[in-house]
Amino acid sequence: RDEPVGAPKRVLLAAPRGYCAGVDRAVIAVEKALEQYGAPVYVRKQIVHNIHVVSTLEQQGAIFVDEVDEVPEGANVVFSAHGVSPMVVQSASDRGLHAIDATCPLVTKVHREAVRFAKQDYEILLIGHAGHEEVEGTMGHAPERTTLVNNPDEADTVEVKNPDHLVWLSQTTLSVDETMETVRRLRKRFPKLQDPPSDDICYATQNRQVAIKKVARDADLVIVVGSANSSNSVRLVEVALDHGAKAAYRIDYAHEIQQEWLDGVATVGVTSGASVPEVLVQEVLRDLADAGYVDVEPVVTAEEDLMFSLPKELRKTKSGAT
Ligand code: F3S
Repeated sequence: RDEPVGAPKRVLLAAPRGYCAGVDRAVIAVEKALEQYGAPVYVRKQIVHNIHVVSTLEQQGAIFVDEVDEVPEGANVVFSAHGVSPMVVQSASDRGLHAIDATCPLVTKVHREAVRFAKQDYEILLIGHAGHEEVEGTMGHAPERTTLVNNPDEADTVEVKNPDHLVWLSQTTLSVDETMETVRRLRKRFPKLQDPPSDDICYATQNRQVAIKKVARDADLVIVVGSANSSNSVRLVEVALDHGAKAAYRIDYAHEIQQEWLDGVATVGVTSGASVPEVLVQEVLRDLADAGYVDVEPVVTAEEDLMFSLPKELRKTKSGAT
């Protein structure tokens, strides 16, 4: 292997990284449901967007399905952290399913905003990515009134019916900077555009982006642990590249690190998305240590202590819900 001349090898380990409060709660919800009701417990969509978490829960007896009509009548079904539209709740109830709602409370907050603005006859511009489950769930709360804006360029072309009664909301896991650019361009066209009452991009997404920006400045290479369908993980790669990392890659597992990524690299930045268990990061650190990156310096930009209580269906009685 090429040894960089002079520069000592080190890792800058971003913090906060990894599990957010919403993911923690959703994963525990499935584990608790398995404990209370026994296997199998059905889960609509991936509970959180991480391959490792999903396969671990599968081994414990969770069955992941795409839609509630794949769940046997009367069975237990958990809704994922990304949230669902009211139509999904309705079909679950039509099938007599016992639903446990693991929607992250910060996604539910956006749902409530959508409902409230729709009731007040607002037109809603939802900044988010087409096809993402969270976007489908949020749009489902105000389907008649919501138009999706995927990126800053779409802000220049999106058509609205009433520019005087317009509000923007967003997906919780976007790039803060890109979203602000989208809003700036929307506001240029629609000066009366209203802001959401509070940030829709959640604290965890924001904190992980702030931390990786600081790391990226000094990193030759940034490794983001996270799955390909994890919106906030993919954003971390983009943010790292935008803020000085010479290269940045996303991996699910340590063994995906390519030897050539490390050629001539003195400083490796490491972080992980909000759905990533810490054990996967520790495996990356072990492999990096084997490659000579033994010195690990934490780069801490915030402390997090938020915790959410479990979904109400799991807080009822020991013997479960009726
Ligand atoms: Fe919730 Fe944000 Fe995590 S919306 S699930 S706290 S990434």
